[in-house]
Amino acid sequence: MDAATAYLSGDQPRARWKRLDTAQILKRFFFCERAVIVNASRWIPHLARIEVKVAIPLLCWQNAETANALRQRVFELRFPSRLMEHEGADKPLADALSLLGMAPSERAFIGALADVALPAIHDAYSEFLAFSDPLADAPTYRFLELSVREKRQQIATLRKFLAEMDQEKAEGVDRAWVDSFNQQLKELGGIPTDRAPDPHAVTPPPSSAPREVPDKPVRDTRYWACRFYWPDIICADFPYGTGLRLQLRSAVSHLNEIWAVEHGGIILSEFADVLPWEWVYDAARWTYDESRHCLMGKMRLEEWGFSAQEIPLGTYIYESAKGGAPIDRLGMLYFFETKNIGRKPERAAAFKEIGDAVSEHDMDFDWADETIHASYGNRWLRVLHELDGQRFPAADEVRQRCERMVSEMIAQASEDERKAITSQAEHLIARAMQLTNSN
Ligand SMILES: [Fe+2]
Ligand SMILES: [Fe+2]
Repeated sequence: MDAATAYLSGDQPRARWKRLDTAQILKRFFFCERAVIVNASRWIPHLARIEVKVAIPLLCWQNAETANALRQRVFELRFPSRLMEHEGADKPLADALSLLGMAPSERAFIGALADVALPAIHDAYSEFLAFSDPLADAPTYRFLELSVREKRQQIATLRKFLAEMDQEKAEGVDRAWVDSFNQQLKELGGIPTDRAPDPHAVTPPPSSAPREVPDKPVRDTRYWACRFYWPDIICADFPYGTGLRLQLRSAVSHLNEIWAVEHGGIILSEFADVLPWEWVYDAARWTYDESRHCLMGKMRLEEWGFSAQEIPLGTYIYESAKGGAPIDRLGMLYFFETKNIGRKPERAAAFKEIGDAVSEHDMDFDWADETIHASYGNRWLRVLHELDGQRFPAADEVRQRCERMVSEMIAQASEDERKAITSQAEHLIARAMQLTNSN
């Protein structure tokens, strides 16, 4: 053998996947993430416990960040091709993960997510990181390592919820469904790295039921359930308030942004196949932000010493959209959430004046989020209208329709509801006085 025919060995493990092999794997991961995000979001209005309802937007947002990074990386690796719209050979995998949207119960859904779907993605990423090249593919390494840590945390959080859910309610049908969901994924060979999933028709397990948009959201029964969560919504003479009343009103409003979380989850999934990926990405952030606003109110009220059963949790904006199209829910989220944007700095200043640093802080961050949401609403209402002007009316028309639906709902308020929410608010104000005196 001479220097012309002899070669140094190129058989080094990091050479396992070339550029296009890597792009193929990352594309598969993207479609897996997308299927989980879209179908988990569908569940948000159906989830009862508030902690569970807000845990889903967090994981959808984290996973949407991962999915977006995966997608960008595929474009880099496949440059100049930007074709990424179809699952191709990975379709059975996306179909299998989409079954999450058909789980027969909250418990089955959380079980399937915590014990099957998220661990499968976690394991696929770990396998990828074990064989990929941290030098040549360093940009993928950075975000996928983060995602592995996030997935571990997501799984731990959801498993804690599962353990807390009433064990007696863990009916056989839930367990059988999760097992069958797991089986479907197994028959595809799990989430593979360097080969396509086995071609296999995915069939919904017995007792699967598509999660439709509910007319009424499922809510946490520990709270004081109502439609209108503060008297000023339905009583012209009840003031929004200043001082302590403003502190309470603002915290109760924040908690009641729960409707915005539910609407966010609904529109994310309803428009996922109508709009491009960027929509899912924006809507995941939007929904997560609203869940943080909801938690801000919850935490302030808890820290002050109020208990869940005395805090009003209302449904009127959610229920106003009953019978409307998904675009009305997008319109409500956009118009009603950004309506008070100009008043937020003013409210933050009022809190500063009375030395309420935490309300000021929350209002301040909320303001920053709402300015982002204003651009989301603007952009996507316009895109929908341009896509199909018949089906999706222009923003102004959507706004008028939303305002009409909500005023019709307010007009329906009964005398009993007025009395009940007024006495509940008076009770909270009196309790707040006691709490300030005991400090
Ligand atoms: Fe908000
Ligand atoms: Fe918002």
